[in-house]
Amino acid sequence: MRKNKASLLAVLLWGVAGGLVIVGNSSAADPVTPRMLSYACAGCHGTNGVSAGPAIPTIAGIDADYFVSAMQGYKKDEWASTVMGRLAKNYSDDQIIAMGKFFAKQQFVPADQVVDSEKAALGKSLHRQHCEKCHENDGASSEGTGVLAGQWMPYLHAALHDYISGMRPMSKNMEAKIDAVLKEHKKAGIEALVHFYGSKSH
Ligand code: HEC
Ligand code: HEC
Repeated sequence: MRKNKASLLAVLLWGVAGGLVIVGNSSAADPVTPRMLSYACAGCHGTNGVSAGPAIPTIAGIDADYFVSAMQGYKKDEWASTVMGRLAKNYSDDQIIAMGKFFAKQQFVPADQVVDSEKAALGKSLHRQHCEKCHENDGASSEGTGVLAGQWMPYLHAALHDYISGMRPMSKNMEAKIDAVLKEHKKAGIEALVHFYGSKSH
């Protein structure tokens, strides 16, 4: 694999040096575009980052800075992961920045999923009380965070489980809010929040 990639790159660079256009319609000055890199993600995250779910998050419309912290977190094994830890190590820091800009520009499409409206109603009030300060617009904003509103619910469950079990670091402020929800409502509070985000089709 590695070797093939390296020799493909060598051929591409040789082509550039010789002024030859050898790969389809891609620009010779920038042989490996972020879109080309994103093809390696499409099998799981869907075309242009819109995931067919359910445990794989949609990354279209993701905040570019958050994307970089996620990929670096996986790369350094600081964020819990099933597959991303292994995958992220294949990309340079520059490639990660370029991919972040690419995915940030793609259109987020909310997941089509079944929600329990009673749970979602409790989740709405918990969100407004504890989470809205950082996850603005009912979780639709993604400045410095992932998109929660319209995200796949099984993924949100897994992410929250990783935080609560200490496998993924979170800020002290977020931890205090999650603790407050758990103290008052136990796991049902987390479940309610997930249904609230799942119910959003922003
Ligand atoms: C084999 C399936 C698979 C492939 C291929 C894959 N991902 Fe992932 N990705 C996942 C899963 C599953 C998660 C959740 C974390 C985990 O368990 O690894 C995830 C999580 C993420 C997240 C975190 C999103 C968030 O909201 O926090 C980002 C960013 C991401 N992937 C980027 C990428 C990029 C970029 C590529 C291509 C270079 C890629 N992934 C390829 C399965 C995949
Ligand atoms: C003080 C600000 C703050 C508060 C309050 C906060 N969060 Fe977060 N949240 C963040 C940041 C920053 C991130 C991205 C951080 C990371 O993991 O590096 C994040 C990430 C997340 C993620 C993971 C998103 C993904 O795509 O993987 C979930 C889920 C989440 N928060 C849920 C909540 C819930 C539920 C609450 C309320 C109980 C809450 N947060 C309160 C700041 C906050």
